Amino acid sequence: PLPLFGKHVLITAGPTHEPIDPVRYIANRSSGKQGFAIAAAAAQAGARVTLIAGPVHLPTPPGVERIDVESALEMAAAVDGALPADVAVMVAAVADWRVARSADQKLKKQGDDTVPPLELTENPDILAGLAHGLRRPPLVVGFAAETQDVIRYAQAKRIRKGADWIVANDVSGDVMGGDANTVHIVTADDVISLPEMPKGDVARVLVERIADALAE
Ligand code: C5P
Repeated sequence: PLPLFGKHVLITAGPTHEPIDPVRYIANRSSGKQGFAIAAAAAQAGARVTLIAGPVHLPTPPGVERIDVESALEMAAAVDGALPADVAVMVAAVADWRVARSADQKLKKQGDDTVPPLELTENPDILAGLAHGLRRPPLVVGFAAETQDVIRYAQAKRIRKGADWIVANDVSGDVMGGDANTVHIVTADDVISLPEMPKGDVARVLVERIADALAE
């Protein structure tokens, strides 16, 4: 029998784009590859998968329901609309800030030396909101990209955000946009350190762990 049959897995992936005006945005760097690989692995394990994707250039994995969004606010609303779920895996690199008042029309160069001021405002933390919310999925998994003290920061993040697990990415190397990843799965009482492996393999290991946790 498929290990995630009958389960609804909610996944966020990719960056968010925060509009400055209709043609300009600020964004985080993220290819979406790891999140899409997890969606593919969860679908292969028999789950119903909702993949909420920021702007990325990736095909939809077979058997996955994909909802495309641009901004963090759109992503937060799509997550809310996709509940309830048995598991949430929040892989998206959500922009921490958005432009406080984005322009409806393209900003024009003034022809002198003046530049438009950009006032930023904080985006909601989608992971923390979900983990602390009323409709919290029984298993909430976050990601963390760190360049130093990876496990210590991940454990602190796990507690602060209310997640059950944090998958800590060591991004000191060449992970961004690449096909391999080195991760540590940080839980309340365990750290599972995986060797560097393709993102598809990371996804399969994580999905196996998720299936085991749900079966308990
Ligand atoms: O705080 P940091 O951005 O490092 O946290 C990363 C984790 O939090 C990831 O799981 C990411 O998807 C999630 N996150 C979020 N909403 C934000 C910021 C981060 O869901 N606004």
